[in-house]
Amino acid sequence: MSGKKLFFILFLCVILTSCQNTHKEEQKASIRIGISLYRGDDTFINNICSVVEEKAKEYERENGIKVILDIQDAKGNQNTQNNQVERFISLDCDVLCINPVDRMDASVIIDRAMTAEVPVVFFNRQPVEEDMNRWDRLYYIGVDAKETAVFQGKMIVDLYQKRPEAVDRNGDGVVSYVILEGETSHQDSLIRTEWSIQTLKNGGVPIEKIAGGIANWERSQASALMEQWIHAYPDTIELVVSNNDDMALGAIDALERAGIDGMNVVGIDGTTPGLEALENGKLLGTVSANKEIYGSAIMELAASCALEKELPEEYPLENGTYYWTPQEILIHED
Ligand code: GAL
Repeated sequence: MSGKKLFFILFLCVILTSCQNTHKEEQKASIRIGISLYRGDDTFINNICSVVEEKAKEYERENGIKVILDIQDAKGNQNTQNNQVERFISLDCDVLCINPVDRMDASVIIDRAMTAEVPVVFFNRQPVEEDMNRWDRLYYIGVDAKETAVFQGKMIVDLYQKRPEAVDRNGDGVVSYVILEGETSHQDSLIRTEWSIQTLKNGGVPIEKIAGGIANWERSQASALMEQWIHAYPDTIELVVSNNDDMALGAIDALERAGIDGMNVVGIDGTTPGLEALENGKLLGTVSANKEIYGSAIMELAASCALEKELPEEYPLENGTYYWTPQEILIHED
């Protein structure tokens, strides 16, 4: 065979292979998304996850691309989550959506994802900045913790300005409060606690802390703490500030057991049971993250990563990495 002919055949092969590749990319008929939750029994996380599932079905219908969601529960164990990530990678997931167990220790997950070149969308539990800066295919979706806290404080400030007697219930000029906090190492607990209280102070509500404690986002732990405080400080507490709705509901459980009516309890999240308690007036108010947008952002960002497409404009990323979900104040109206 002459050199010219050989060159022509090789040239044809190259063209054909590249056409085939383009064809293959255009034809990506399905995407596989590995999702790992820090705890599958967390109410808020459950709410978000249900929206992601709905949005995945919508995405399939609208784009004609099959979306395979592989959802795993890490049950509060970082090793379990690391193994789940390992499995997702071995199953050729196109993208990982990780709600990290230990947000301070996302490095193992990031190492694995970088080696396998699988992008990661973290959500709700924010990895430290140093970790997030390691690769440009790491993203985070959450709510701005300070904004949440300021909204929570503002709820009480507004009420105090309109009707001080509704907040300073015994009329002694001081609002005696207790505070229920989430996990110690969680960015949301630390910032929410600090800024809710700071907002009350800045807004001129004369507050006095009676007690505070960590209930790890859990209804039963909050209920036990509240029960202790009711006994230790009878007829004193006027306001319960909670870092989330589940703990607020725990406090309400304890108040109901003690036969105490009409206490001001405020939460955060706008979970399904939280909204129910708001509706029937047991919860005075909550700061609700827009779950539709939260879940859509996870789905859309994951799909864009998987298909190597631009993210739709309605989800602007701060520094190309962070998406902050909008939230609103919801207050019980009599
Ligand atoms: C918080 C939320 C809590 C809990 C926690 C889990 O943002 O308010 O209810 O879900 O995340 O990381």
